[in-house]
Amino acid sequence: TNTKNTGMWHYSSYFVKGVAYTLLITIISVFFGILLGVIFALMRLSKVKLLHALGVAYIEFVRGTPLMIQVMFVYFGIGLFVNIPALIAGIIAVSLNSAAYVAEIIRGGINSVAVGQKEAARSLGLSRQQTFKSVVFPQALKNIWPALGNEFISLIKESSIVSIIGVTDLIYQLKAVQTATYKGVMPIVVAMLIYFILTFSLSKLLNFYERKMKHDA
Ligand code: ARG
Repeated sequence: TNTKNTGMWHYSSYFVKGVAYTLLITIISVFFGILLGVIFALMRLSKVKLLHALGVAYIEFVRGTPLMIQVMFVYFGIGLFVNIPALIAGIIAVSLNSAAYVAEIIRGGINSVAVGQKEAARSLGLSRQQTFKSVVFPQALKNIWPALGNEFISLIKESSIVSIIGVTDLIYQLKAVQTATYKGVMPIVVAMLIYFILTFSLSKLLNFYERKMKHDA
């Protein structure tokens, strides 16, 4: 008789592990994505032609190619030289990808501040730096903040692509549960619901802070 346990609860440790990996990749990649994104945004906004061109090239190229192929490129590309764990390759690829999107969020946030704001500050005698620091940037942040939250939510979903190089994220685990249970659909449903719970609760949390910030401002 078949004694195989095919209940989803029996495999909860698989899903828990998957969520842990998915969140780990997402959190680390958001962090480095923001760090590198600031740099690429500054490059693109720079008046130094070479820096500007490099910034534009990076941002456009990364946004113009699939994350899937970037993940493969980083894993197998670095793999030519050193043996790199799939998890590390995945984090590097997702971070580098996110940086391009974050750079555009930051550039967009800064450009969305009305020119009149800058002109007024300058005509009041503020220096370029003072104007940016105390007039333009604080207003830009109001647009940048929520968009970075959306990027976080995007990465929870988009990071799922690292499963193709064997990172044991939620997608990888759902396939493992399919194999173990011979059930095609239930593991998908469970993983899908978990993704939704993650993104939905994060979006509620971010909305809460956003509203709080508006109130305090
Ligand atoms: N799925 C798309 C792609 O493969 C979008 C990636 C989105 N990345 C991000 N950091 N928001 O290119």
